[in-house]
Amino acid sequence: QAKSEEENARAKNDALTSAGAHVPESYEDFDDLVVSVADSVRANGRSPVQDDFDLSLYENRKPLSGIVSTISDDTGSEAKYLDESIVDVASDGSRGVADVVGMLWLRRKLPPVALKFITIILKLVADHGPSVSGAHNTIVASRAGKDLVSSFASGLLTIGPRFGGATGEAAGYFLDSVREGSSPRDFVERMKGEHKNIPGIGHRVKSKVNPDARVTLLKGFAAEHLTDTPHFDFALGVEEITLQKKHNLILNIDGCIAAVALDVFAHVGFSDEEMDSLVRHEVLDGLFVLGRSVGLIGHHIDQKRLGSSLYRHPTSDTTFWNEEDL
Ligand code: ACO
Ligand code: LMR
Repeated sequence: QAKSEEENARAKNDALTSAGAHVPESYEDFDDLVVSVADSVRANGRSPVQDDFDLSLYENRKPLSGIVSTISDDTGSEAKYLDESIVDVASDGSRGVADVVGMLWLRRKLPPVALKFITIILKLVADHGPSVSGAHNTIVASRAGKDLVSSFASGLLTIGPRFGGATGEAAGYFLDSVREGSSPRDFVERMKGEHKNIPGIGHRVKSKVNPDARVTLLKGFAAEHLTDTPHFDFALGVEEITLQKKHNLILNIDGCIAAVALDVFAHVGFSDEEMDSLVRHEVLDGLFVLGRSVGLIGHHIDQKRLGSSLYRHPTSDTTFWNEEDL
């Protein structure tokens, strides 16, 4: 199991560190660490190595190769995801796209509840109609005659802090707040004091009276599959406060994915370090990006199929605002 291998490696590293050994953060840091330890020993007036040891081997060592990859490999006769041939993974009917996401994004074979969560998210965020930023950009580019990759990229580039890209930042705040034992009230006050919008809160059209069915679905998922939901509870606590200000300051789909994802991955045994990595390495943002890609490509194909002509925004919906008239 990839997970137990990782855990064994970490346990060994921890044991070595507590026994006083110098342990590199990663394989790439190994050479630098050898040289820096040698330098510090020298600085103390001692010889860093036994007489017969050639330290220059490390001091002049070049990296093994220009690129190091830990997720896939085509150096053998058949390309692999981790240690399994792509063909074996693809022909195994019991595995789906979420399994491949687990292997290539997290380097592990994920347990069923995490796979189910990822599959639901990918289906849930695939599209949200033609009016939202991403689809709109793709449609405009497509109608300007651009090709698939260009139109798709144009839509993709709108994913960011206001639209579809708030998941990672929201998760970072929820994770830290739960760890620190902050209350939702303290958190909301802190964000207000910093004049920051809370990522994962707020929606242009969805609100308390017009709830987002996707969020309701994820609430049901959490209730059915998870025993403990500290991050989701925290996020709902934040929503309770923000809703007192405006009815559209709901926990939105980005915030809900963030909170439930943290609870799912904690439930399946991710360590604190791995939870940090989910946030820092943008794994959770990747879920929206991957899912929405299906819809963006769909909008490009749709426009081509329709034979849509060049889009020009109507002047009736355009205002020229002369500053002198103000
Ligand atoms: N946290 C705190 N206050 C907020 C938030 C928020 N996230 N969003 C809006 N407000 C407040 C504003 O400060 C403003 O207050 P004021 O009236 O006292 O000035 C009021 O609510 C209205 O703000 P607008 O910017 O007009 O709200 P709008 O409806 O245009 O914004 C948006 C919607 C962009 C989603 C906004 O709520 C936001 O930035 N949210 C955080 C980012 C986020 O989660 N985006 C993902 C949305 S889901 C998706 O894209 C798939
Ligand atoms: C989406 O998933 O694209 C929407 O939640 C955004 C929107 O403004 O409807």
